[in-house]
Amino acid sequence: MNSPRIIVTRRLPAPVEQDVVARYGAVLNADDHQFTRDELSAAMRESDIVLCTLTDDLSRPTLDAARGGRARLLANFGVGFNHIDLAAAKELGLAVTNTPGVLTEDTADHTLLLILAVARRAGEGERELRAGRWTGWRPTHLLGSRVSGKTLGIIGFGRIGRAVAARAHNGFGMKVVYHSRTPADSATERATGAVRCDSLENLLQQSDFVSLHCPATPETRHLINEARLRQMQPHAYLVNTSRGDVVDERALVAALDGKWIAGAALDVYDGEPRVNPQLLDRENVVLLPHLGSATIESRVAMGRRAIANIDAFVSQRPLPDRIA
Ligand code: DGY
Repeated sequence: MNSPRIIVTRRLPAPVEQDVVARYGAVLNADDHQFTRDELSAAMRESDIVLCTLTDDLSRPTLDAARGGRARLLANFGVGFNHIDLAAAKELGLAVTNTPGVLTEDTADHTLLLILAVARRAGEGERELRAGRWTGWRPTHLLGSRVSGKTLGIIGFGRIGRAVAARAHNGFGMKVVYHSRTPADSATERATGAVRCDSLENLLQQSDFVSLHCPATPETRHLINEARLRQMQPHAYLVNTSRGDVVDERALVAALDGKWIAGAALDVYDGEPRVNPQLLDRENVVLLPHLGSATIESRVAMGRRAIANIDAFVSQRPLPDRIA
């Protein structure tokens, strides 16, 4: 493909933008606003390649409105692709790629951060101190729960779930159980110390922490619903770094109100960046703004991976990370 026209839908780390502009003269989103559906459809009509990301609504109406346009590749910056209607993309003859692998370690680190923060009441402590309310050390001050040696239940045992298991087991001596459609091989189970649970119910009933690492699909929408929250232990915590719609947030609020669980730590939200106001003023909930992969190392690597897919597409080689 000669001189492809490329649009980048969000600002990217400087080295990545410099690279994609130097190679392809890509058009950047100077003010980093979130593209509307109309802007996305227009971008697809006018460009051969859209370097998109998870804030872009690439659902069927957006893609249908781009029919007959130039776009041939959606090179997604990010591993999750629930914002893209793959069936509609296929109908339009669009290839779709993502950026797996390069954000695994940072997202796993971030999950441990959330586990520790919610169990050790880090948010509460920091808010108290910054508000000038800290009156000094005392034996009963902000007592949390121990993490080391506890049981971590991991739902979804792909790259990130496994990296979390390895950290939890090898670093914190946690007992790790996991639930996934496909069992991991025995070498992976040995390396991560993880034992497969035959049912989700069994995992929920025995875990002190439940961490979500499954993709967002129609099957996993509201996987954590009222019935499942009621299966958790009253001292257990829910941690979500996957996608917001895996958790039914109304049921989560009820679970926190009813003390069915001890707390939650969330990095992702249903309909983000909107956050359910009923979560905002709770002390036993840690809330972060989708920062799982937010290190300069991961974000540059994600950009380079997206560009590697573009390079392959332009030179008509097999796409390294093709998902459709
Ligand atoms: C992804 O890549 O899908 C992540 O959610 C970004 O942090």
